[in-house]
Amino acid sequence: MQICRTKTAIRARITDWRSTGAPVVLVPTMGFLHDGHLSLMRLARARAGEQGRVVASIFVNPTQFGPNEDFESYPRDEARDFDLLRSEGVDAVFAPDIAEVYDPQAQTIVETTELAKVLIGKLRPGHFRGVATVVTKLFNIIRPDAAVFGEKDYQQLAVLRTMARDLDMGVEIIGAPIQREADGLAMSSRNVRLSPADRAAAPVLARALDQAEIMAPTGITASRLRSHVRATLEGEPRARVQSVDIRDAATLDTIAGPLTRPAVILLAVSFGKVFLIDNRVVHPTPPEEP
Ligand code: PAF
Repeated sequence: MQICRTKTAIRARITDWRSTGAPVVLVPTMGFLHDGHLSLMRLARARAGEQGRVVASIFVNPTQFGPNEDFESYPRDEARDFDLLRSEGVDAVFAPDIAEVYDPQAQTIVETTELAKVLIGKLRPGHFRGVATVVTKLFNIIRPDAAVFGEKDYQQLAVLRTMARDLDMGVEIIGAPIQREADGLAMSSRNVRLSPADRAAAPVLARALDQAEIMAPTGITASRLRSHVRATLEGEPRARVQSVDIRDAATLDTIAGPLTRPAVILLAVSFGKVFLIDNRVVHPTPPEEP
């Protein structure tokens, strides 16, 4: 596996590969990899095929963290990440430092004007601008045919799909299903920062989503379903509920009245200083028996 620290190095590597016509699939990450990330690498390999190339990036992007967020304390372990990527057969990793990515004179940002303002965008102003800008830069540096992102960051995926479409980026955006621990907690690099008591309490997010999935096909309204989910979360005294939203799964538009189309339940809950998100797409009619 090639480890590239500079734009020049990764571009040179990819230019060689491109000359053979092999597709290049990118998996952008902020490192501290877990099984959820490794499932993204496997999806990338499946898309790239035997002849194609899988490139991961590891970069804890400062511009997507607010002033009082956890940029400094975000977990990092590059040596372990490289071992994991090697064992997944990743062809190259782009792991630049901040100065390599951001020119101090830079003036240009990328922003999805509406999607970036709602939901997580309201709780974390500027977050999606940071994400869209750094992903655009990664696309411009690596010029992948496709890029894989986890569905756990549902709104991020919607932002990036919209951005790639609106700006004709020509990069296929692939969503990868959420990976969960045995007790249902969605895998996240932040989970290691939960205290033992908070770690024991955190599966309440998955429990609330399981219950909502069962209630969704009963003709319930979105606002009643939201109240149930919030009550389940608030039943856990260690959880500080930041937001519970039920939106159209395709457009993220608000829903009035009973569910008539697939809806996504989006949760943001803090445990101490650790901010967790989770989501589930639910259906107004029960899935058909095979
Ligand atoms: O999902 C993440 O890890 C980050 O938001 C991303 C897409 C790598 C951009 O920094």
